[in-house]
Amino acid sequence: MDSKELLILVATMTGTALMAAEDIAEYCNDNDINTTITEMDNANINILIDNTHPVLICSSTYGQGDVPDPAQEFYNDLKDSSPNLSHIKYAVFGLGDMTYRDTFAYGGKKFSDLLDSLNATKIGKPFYHDASDGSLPEEVAVEWFINNIKDKI
Ligand SMILES: Cc1cc2nc3c(=O)[nH]c(=O)nc-3n(C[C@H](O)[C@H](O)[C@H](O)COP(=O)(O)O)c2cc1C
Repeated sequence: MDSKELLILVATMTGTALMAAEDIAEYCNDNDINTTITEMDNANINILIDNTHPVLICSSTYGQGDVPDPAQEFYNDLKDSSPNLSHIKYAVFGLGDMTYRDTFAYGGKKFSDLLDSLNATKIGKPFYHDASDGSLPEEVAVEWFINNIKDKI
């Protein structure tokens, strides 16, 4: 059987989304799914365009419902160049805080909307973690991944 591969793209300001990504990657690596984690601030959009594996986007939210600053360039480049991503399967784990109720988790939602508009295929239902609910994002992320995403990769 071919080994499974997952590319995790992270958009974070203070590292919470990266922690969630790392815990998912740890689970994956223990369960025969090879993962690569890349933070968007280090990435060119070709990492997505040239990629043939499923993608997990882990993105928090900043400003007034924006993707985090370090990921702005990646997001805007993707939006402006508007490549066809019909070969990409993707999932979204978004992070936000219901205190910002009008823009709750808009960072992840913006990526989800953008990838949909570029013809990528969503796998599983996105999960949007609420920092005000007292749960640990990395724990919720792994549980969500096991129950909703793992078998679709
Ligand atoms: C200045 C600031 C602005 C924020 N704006 C939003 C927002 O508009 N909507 C939202 O859902 N969460 C917002 N958040 C909450 C963060 O997205 C949330 O705390 C997240 O877990 C941080 O993840 P990170 O460490 O990966 O960046 C904001 C947090 C800060 C500090």
